[in-house]
Amino acid sequence: MKQVLVDRYGTPWEVARCAEVPDVGAPAADELVFDVLAFPINPADLWFCRGSYRLKPPLPATPGAECVGRVVAAGASVTHVRPGDLVINLQRENWTQRRKVKGDDAIPLPAGIDLRQAAMVRINPPTAMLMLSDFVDLQRGEWVIQNVANSAVGRLLIVLAKQRGLRTVNVVRRPELAAELTALGADSVLVDGDDLADRVAAATGKAEIRLGVEAVGGAATARLVECVANDGTVVHYGSMSGEDPVAGRSNFIYRGVKLTGFMLGRFLARRTPEQVRAIYADLGAQVKAGTLSAPVDSVYPIDDIREALRHADRGGRHGKILVSPNGAI
Ligand SMILES: NC(=O)c1ccc[n+]([C@@H]2O[C@H](COP(=O)([O-])OP(=O)(O)OC[C@H]3O[C@@H](n4cnc5c(N)ncnc54)[C@H](OP(=O)(O)O)[C@@H]3O)[C@@H](O)[C@H]2O)c1
Repeated sequence: MKQVLVDRYGTPWEVARCAEVPDVGAPAADELVFDVLAFPINPADLWFCRGSYRLKPPLPATPGAECVGRVVAAGASVTHVRPGDLVINLQRENWTQRRKVKGDDAIPLPAGIDLRQAAMVRINPPTAMLMLSDFVDLQRGEWVIQNVANSAVGRLLIVLAKQRGLRTVNVVRRPELAAELTALGADSVLVDGDDLADRVAAATGKAEIRLGVEAVGGAATARLVECVANDGTVVHYGSMSGEDPVAGRSNFIYRGVKLTGFMLGRFLARRTPEQVRAIYADLGAQVKAGTLSAPVDSVYPIDDIREALRHADRGGRHGKILVSPNGAI
């Protein structure tokens, strides 16, 4: 079977390759085997290949934080899924044609769900959902501000915020995205820049914004921090610039703004397995219904992983780059 291997850490499309490896074999009683039908290339996967992600396993290593699979065999004690069912995998190393995992790591998805969208259920939808729920007790009508608003997380957050009766200020770096994000439910779309706080105040009628989420880092963090109200919270959850967050100390000393961080695994770990399954059941149902989705730019076969990685690293994409290891999408 085919699997992506990273032989050394470096430029993703130079260090990753599609290799022929032995099959995973039959599952033990508490395991199951699934065919990987599709996986996305997320920013964190690119950092994994570069060796700048928090996980840096011994090499060769297989990247891949998420995928959708179809169960082909299940051990005797695995009862919640059967062969033929669609699953997402709570474990990594998913850039491969076939995976064998513990039954408890496989979460079922509804039959008939769009496979492209199913491949992206594991990470970004719960990230958007939990950032809205776990930091500030927001009331209907309140505003939330975010940057990278046209990212998959950003688009999901717009929809999930709307469902809760929240309003969103969406900061992007390309003005042409305004119509698209407005159609999704964005209340305001602004291009990042030095006078951001003034423009946000004008767009929201000087609303007291108690939650900001940001994934650019560097000076963009400072611009977001300046948009939230005194005692507000800014959640840093990624760094598309590769820079650490920077923000003027007066925001913290005089205004009491809190700068904190989010990592999905940390926030899922605070929940029971039942609660985690309930989150994915909710999100899976919403993805199947088409309420939640993320645009897809292109789909590549696993043999073309290098080209797929090069494309995923380019700015200005029209959505995610997906890989179809078994030709299912
Ligand atoms: N902490 C967590 O648990 C967690 C979980 C999920 C995701 N994340 C993070 O969330 C962020 C978004 O992920 P995603 O999968 O939703 O991303 P995505 O769909 O791949 O989109 C990437 C976004 O980043 C923007 N971007 C790229 N380089 C940039 C730069 N130098 N400055 C400003 N914006 C830049 C792109 O803008 P253009 O379209 O204009 O190119 C696009 O909006 C990433 O940082 C990711 O690591 C974190």
